[in-house]
Amino acid sequence: MIFSKAKEGKTDLVVPDPASYTFQGRYEPTKAPVFYNPRMEFSRDMAVLALAVFSKTRDRPLDICDPLAGLGARGVRFAKEVGLINKSVIGDLNDDAIPVISENVRFNKLEGIVEIFHKDACLLLTEHAEPGKRFDYIDVDPFGTPSPFLDCAVRALKNGGLLAITATDTAPLCGIYSKACIRKYGGTPLRSEFCHEVGLRIMIGTAVREALKYDFGTEVLLSYSADHYLRAYLRCSLGAKRGDSSASSMGYIFHCPSCGWRCALQLNDPWPCSCAACGKPIKRGGPLWCGRLCEREFMERMLAEDRSFLNTGKRIEKLLNLLISESDKPPTYYVLDNICSRLKRDVPPISKIIETLTSMGYESSLTHFHPKAIKTSAPLDVLTKVVKDAGRHPE
Ligand SMILES: C[S@@+](CC[C@H](N)C(=O)[O-])C[C@H]1O[C@@H](n2cnc3c(N)ncnc32)[C@H](O)[C@@H]1O
Ligand SMILES: [Zn+2]
Repeated sequence: MIFSKAKEGKTDLVVPDPASYTFQGRYEPTKAPVFYNPRMEFSRDMAVLALAVFSKTRDRPLDICDPLAGLGARGVRFAKEVGLINKSVIGDLNDDAIPVISENVRFNKLEGIVEIFHKDACLLLTEHAEPGKRFDYIDVDPFGTPSPFLDCAVRALKNGGLLAITATDTAPLCGIYSKACIRKYGGTPLRSEFCHEVGLRIMIGTAVREALKYDFGTEVLLSYSADHYLRAYLRCSLGAKRGDSSASSMGYIFHCPSCGWRCALQLNDPWPCSCAACGKPIKRGGPLWCGRLCEREFMERMLAEDRSFLNTGKRIEKLLNLLISESDKPPTYYVLDNICSRLKRDVPPISKIIETLTSMGYESSLTHFHPKAIKTSAPLDVLTKVVKDAGRHPE
């Protein structure tokens, strides 16, 4: 491999030389013998902060695992930057990755706390599934879907541990390839204006179901959609009651493509057969997670952490503030342009619509999922009237 150097956070990394692995003139991570995507630095920075916050909630230094490590950017960074780490176990199946991970461990003087394994991720996790060997934090960051790694990750997680998962197969999850979504996640996606939220909820729902098999209840501390991927941080705690509570947050989202009406229902609720607003046929997405997508307190604590050493600190602050503002809003969002095109009206300023809805007593905010969308507790007919009135000239 032709090497270069990069610095992420406080960590120096040996990485593939960007100029040597290109496609159509641009660095292409999949062309390099060991995988490293500089565009995922934001995701890794978020993970460093999330793990720093989580580590302060545990009573002793953490044992963590990065089982699909590439050149070890996550596992090495956590060991170097998070502080309260007892042991960082890093694995990858690619022969070429192992010497590069070793080099990165040496480079950052972390030999004392990092263990490296040339192993299939499921095997590595299964070998750590017995009591005493389990992890406080596991970061499942694969190519495409995390589904094949969820069962073994849950089994290798300590009670109250944090499971972080990434999905880059957004085309299936967002409904472009719905058969692939059904195969990988056991859920039907919804090709709709809020398809990214449905994709995130399907991914989370899949992990929640895997955890339920072992009587783990799941709390979603943080989840979001960014760039080409979806990401979630799930705290899994043992207990049948906790499991029942998580199961009650599973359900379906129904959507009318004609008028935009939608509703979220629990698994046991009777299904509507047609749109409650216009009577036309509706579509169903799920099973999926209908509960909260983030916990406000967790994100406030992330915001209180030092971010000065992170290259993406500004972007993190922006995302966390948006996530806080939308954290208590109901599922799905409305894209203002779509409402206006149904009404055949010009698009009013989104801030004006949010202001009016809020003054009427409806919880309303922007959403990180879409720059021109609104999350609101207002029903569609109220929102439509507010948009219509906002387009009128004062008399
Ligand atoms: C998306 S990359 C990981 C990127 C890395 N987490 C980061 O942030 O830089 C996925 C990695 O998983 C490895 N991999 C794929 N299948 C695997 C398996 N079954 N077990 C272990 N590693 C695997 C690949 O070699 C690749 O390095
Ligand atoms: Zn309808």
